[in-house]
Amino acid sequence: MAKRYAILGDIHANIDALNAVLIDARSCGVTDFISVGDIVGYNAAPSECIRIVRDELRCPVVCGNHDYYVSHPVNLSDFSPNAEIAVKWTRDQLSEADRKWLYDLPLSRPVMGMTIVHSTLDMPSHWGYVFDVEQAKANFSFQSTPVCFHGHTHVPIIYEKTQNNFNVYNPQDFRIVPGVKYFINVGSVGQSRDGDVRASYVIYDMATKNVYFRRVPYDVEAAQERIRKAGLPEALARRLALGN
Ligand SMILES: [Fe+2]
Repeated sequence: MAKRYAILGDIHANIDALNAVLIDARSCGVTDFISVGDIVGYNAAPSECIRIVRDELRCPVVCGNHDYYVSHPVNLSDFSPNAEIAVKWTRDQLSEADRKWLYDLPLSRPVMGMTIVHSTLDMPSHWGYVFDVEQAKANFSFQSTPVCFHGHTHVPIIYEKTQNNFNVYNPQDFRIVPGVKYFINVGSVGQSRDGDVRASYVIYDMATKNVYFRRVPYDVEAAQERIRKAGLPEALARRLALGN
């Protein structure tokens, strides 16, 4: 049977959002999952989210910048104060096995004729942000598969390279056209930044070649409560209700 994938990005330790997305995905007939990284950081349930992705979904995963920072001896002096606090707090929560699992994640990888990466394929370890077509062009020169899914900006969007043009589209359901390359940002499960507080993810049906952008409401107040209980910065709780 052809696979129907849910592609999850930037879960960011938000277990309330992740659980809501899993229920939605299963109700949509999803058979398999993919994670494009940043499983941890910002929110208060890193170990729980790692356990679900690693042990329950057992899906292909690439490393996000937060996954990298918490599992490598990185100097945090260039970080914003809130990001630094969240990285240090997350490091303290993880078991040695969790840390080693994050440490070993690849920066990009092929999955069933697709490619997955957290940021961009041209320089994945530099964690560059793709916010426009110009920035997407560099990625396309390194993309050998028709479809590449990514995350990192927390803003869902579609970049397309046809024979003659580069185009950009707002999230909308569509069918993959042969001969066209797509670099698709799936948005963020755990900390949306496009003004819509709902969790974002994408479904890709391998049989029909259809791509669906999904938004899922979840218990934002429960996620905020976890952040406050953990003693993480209040700004991280507030932004969940603003979608920024
Ligand atoms: Fe992220």
